[in-house]
Order: sequence, then C-alpha cells, then structure tokens
Amino acid sequence: MSSQEKINYIAKPGGQLKGEVHIPGDKSISHRSIMLGSLAKGTTHISGFLQGEDALATLNAFRAMGVPIEGPDPQGNVVIEGVGMHGLKAPAHALDLGNSGTSMRLLTGLLAAQKFDLQLEGDESLSSRPMKRVTLPIKEMGAKIDTAENNTAPIKISGGNQLKGIAYSLPMASAQVKSCVLLAGMYAKGKTCVTEPAPTRDHTERMLQGFGYDVEVNNLGDGKSQICLDGGGELKACDLHVPADISSAAFFMVAACIAEKSELLLKHIGVNPTRIGIINILRLMGADISLQNEKVVGGEPVADILVRSSQLKGIEIPEKQVPLAIDEFPVISIAAACAEGKTILTGAEELRVKESDRIQAMIDGLTILGIRCEGTDDGMIIWGGEMAGGVVDSLGDHRIAMSFAVAALQSTENIEIKDCANVNTSFPGFVDLATQCGMQVEIA
Ligand code: S3P
Repeated sequence: MSSQEKINYIAKPGGQLKGEVHIPGDKSISHRSIMLGSLAKGTTHISGFLQGEDALATLNAFRAMGVPIEGPDPQGNVVIEGVGMHGLKAPAHALDLGNSGTSMRLLTGLLAAQKFDLQLEGDESLSSRPMKRVTLPIKEMGAKIDTAENNTAPIKISGGNQLKGIAYSLPMASAQVKSCVLLAGMYAKGKTCVTEPAPTRDHTERMLQGFGYDVEVNNLGDGKSQICLDGGGELKACDLHVPADISSAAFFMVAACIAEKSELLLKHIGVNPTRIGIINILRLMGADISLQNEKVVGGEPVADILVRSSQLKGIEIPEKQVPLAIDEFPVISIAAACAEGKTILTGAEELRVKESDRIQAMIDGLTILGIRCEGTDDGMIIWGGEMAGGVVDSLGDHRIAMSFAVAALQSTENIEIKDCANVNTSFPGFVDLATQCGMQVEIA
C-alpha cells in the first residue's frame, strides 16, 4: 500500500499480548547498510533489511545513481555490487526520499562532494522539516548547497566541490547531523571531527568500522564524545545483519506492559546502548522487562526481550535518557497515560520537529481520549487516568498512529486513528503482527 492513500485504523478496547514476536529490521541500520554497501569495493550481502518505505527510498536513490542492488527478497536479503567511493553516477531525476529524514540528512553529507549536481526532494512533511542543521556544517566544509526558503527541502547540491575537514560541535544531540558530517568527512581533505553534547545512536561509527574505515572515538567525559575520521579512505564490502528495530519493538513493549495478563517475548531486538532509553524509562516506571540471549551480531548488540504486564507509575524522565529514546516518546506517553500519577518529560524540544510535532500530536490525541496532559516547550506533563475512546489524528506520522493503536488496550471505547498509511514507512505489517499478538486493530 502506498502512503499516498489515506487509511484509518480502528483500535478496539482491551486485549492481552501473548507469545513470541519477530519485529522488522532496524530502520537506521538499514539506511546505513545501503549507503556504505553502495560505496564499498566488492559485494555486500545484507540480511534482515527493513522493507519499509523509508529504507526503500534510500535503496532506490542508490539504484538511481547506478548502483546494482538485488532485492530485498521477502526475507530481507539484499545484495549490493559496491561501486567504490567515486563510482556513483548522476541520477536522471531528483532523488525522491519520501517521508525519510534520515535519507535526506545523511545523503546531504554523503553526496556533497560528488562530481555531479543533484537534488533531494521529499513529501510534504519532510519538506517542512529543518535542514539547516545539516547544510550549515556541510557548507562550512566547502559544499555548494541551495535550499528552499526557511532552509527546507528541496536541497540542491552542486557537484565538483572539494571538501575540507572541519571540527564541528553539534548544537543538538542528533545522530543524523553527526552522521551527515562524518559521511562528508570521508570525501574531505584532512580530518573531520564531530563533538556531540550527549550520546546519540552510533550505528554510523560502528558500521564504518565494519566496512574497514578507521574511526576514532574520544570520550571527553561528562557524557560527551568526539568522533573523528580522516578523509580519503576506502570502504571494503562485508556481510551485514540488521537486527530487529527497538523503536518498532517499543510499541509492543508498552502494549505488553499496559495490557492485563500479558507476557510477550520480542525476538532478536537491537539493544545498542545508544537506543535502549525505552527499556530504561519503562523500568523506572516499574515495568517487568528482562533481556535474554544477549549477544553481539555484526558489531551490534542484540537480545530477546521478555515483557510482562505491570502497574506502571509516573516518573520524571531523566533528561539523559531523552536522546536514547528520542523516537519512543509517542508510545512512552501512552505508558504515562496508563500509569499511576504524573509523568514529566523535559529536554525533548527535538520532538517538535520530527515527522510531526509529536508533543502537540500526543497532547491533542490524549486530550480527546480524556487524559489530563499539558505540552511544554520542551516536553509534556501527563497525569495517568482512565482513557475513553474517540477519533484522533496521527497527522500522517507513523509513530503517532501506532501509539494510539496501543492505547486502545486500556481504553473503554474504540479509538479511531486518522491518516495511518505512513506506518508503512517504518513498520510494514504492523496491523497483522499486532492482531497476531492479541491487539484488536483494523484498517478502516
Ligand atoms: C536517526 C536519528 C534520529 C531519529 C531518526 C533516525 C538516525 O534523528 O529520530 O528517526 O537514523 O540517525 P535525530 O538525529 O534528528 O535525533
């Protein structure tokens, strides 16, 4: 189904979650596997690739730049004949990246030093998201980039510019900006260093090393680190396994916590320490979550996650957990609505510039469902309480749609959720999987 079609969900009240569930592949890792595999020398085999629209937008962009890519097959196997660091060809058209912020921001860096001109475009939501955070440092490195008014997409990159390495201090904790600068740094003269104010997902650094590119990580203390690489290196093809996406698993984790008499085993989930804010926050709220079968596969930690129902309690979410759970706050706010007492989120102003303004979207929806809550500039306050039914708008944001589907486990009436087609950007098959596990969600 294309995300152009308008579809709604009807989530019926109640349900119990039981059994074992296999969640689709990690979106962040899937994007990066295509980018680095395409620029490597040799053949890269990927398994577990996410067949969601966002990751496929990245895959199609590299195909359009002449990279032979086979798959994905139904099991998520992809084979890439890498063209080397300088083997990309000018695409015949602008690259359409759909709803995918990660594709647009990482490609702005990766493609800044190509020989050809190109244009990156996106859908309405992506075309309204801030891009100055990536164009600013990349221009400082010597790229020639034009954007639409207000520094938004489309992004036009002029080819043939030599980049120089920079030392860049990230103004916000953003893995997309960090990755953009590091990927541009591979093409720059000299050394590129990025300092992050707090740890953010480190898949780019890990994967670069997996492809044989030297990356230096210096711990600056106080939670800060600096990541450096030298330009002019090469990537060597490798075999990659994409673990299941903890950001998609998060919906089922909260579901199993709030639904009565539930016990759900989530298999082979990526538990990279820069992504486990959802586990840390739910545990602070009193959730019964245990990790089993922990191992490292292809440079990324994975585990099975067992979640049992528990009475959650409201907490003040520690700010240092915010970047580690940045995509999970829509569903964490459902956990908060089902908890005893008040939950306070601060330091999360980035939520206002995700696929939607996620603070406003959750506050509007929860208010319709009768939950007392308030939005603040950088977060929200939610008082746990009884949830009614009603009609809520996902604003075309995949994570808002899935969060309200989870909410129905504790609502007294149906929740109708508007504009859910974009669930396919990150979680194809969500409704079927949710139904198999014991939720009652239908496409209306
Ligand atoms: C991502 C980083 C995060 C996250 C996004 C994916 C990535 O964005 O919200 O869904 O793959 O690097 P920011 O870097 O803007 O926080």
